[in-house]
Amino acid sequence: MAFELPSLPYPHNALAGRGMCQETMELHHDKHHQAYVTALNGFVEKDSKLQGKSLEDIIKMSHGNAEMAPVFNNAGQHWNHILFWQAMSPQGGKLPGRLEQQITSDFGGVQQFKDAFKAAAVGQFGSGWAWLVKGTDGKLKVTRSANGSNPLAGGEGEALLGCDVWEHSYYLDFRNRRPDYVQNWLDNLANYEFAASKL
Ligand SMILES: [Fe+2]
Repeated sequence: MAFELPSLPYPHNALAGRGMCQETMELHHDKHHQAYVTALNGFVEKDSKLQGKSLEDIIKMSHGNAEMAPVFNNAGQHWNHILFWQAMSPQGGKLPGRLEQQITSDFGGVQQFKDAFKAAAVGQFGSGWAWLVKGTDGKLKVTRSANGSNPLAGGEGEALLGCDVWEHSYYLDFRNRRPDYVQNWLDNLANYEFAASKL
């Protein structure tokens, strides 16, 4: 069974008023994410070791294996983008009480969390991701990863939110201003209800 591009959980123009325009969504979801899925399916077709494996299995078995780097990159990016579309909402930016309490407990406050997340996202040199992760100790933390990697591959815990800091995610809306994109993402796009549902 080939991997498939999931539909967006909202229309392509649903985030336009919140800093992610329709053209960004059309390119990012329909072209970039589709390209990762197509490439991954091509690798699976040619390699019997990958056939019948879940996406998570493929990510774990290819992680850290130089020969499988192209498989890892595309499987990771498929997994990352599946999460990314869910991690945003046309009603984004509002923190449910339960998540706010845990963020306050683990980071000292919502502002401290946002500052840490923004620092991770801006500090990721080149392409990559910033994450809100529930660690194996049950505590929330912020991490970052390069290119197509993610907290699943690194064994860091469960990703509750992931912010794509590849330029294809923000260049039409924010040009080179990654800090402004990330701040807007945290304030107006992040689906904290989704994050809370994974606590
Ligand atoms: Fe992306």
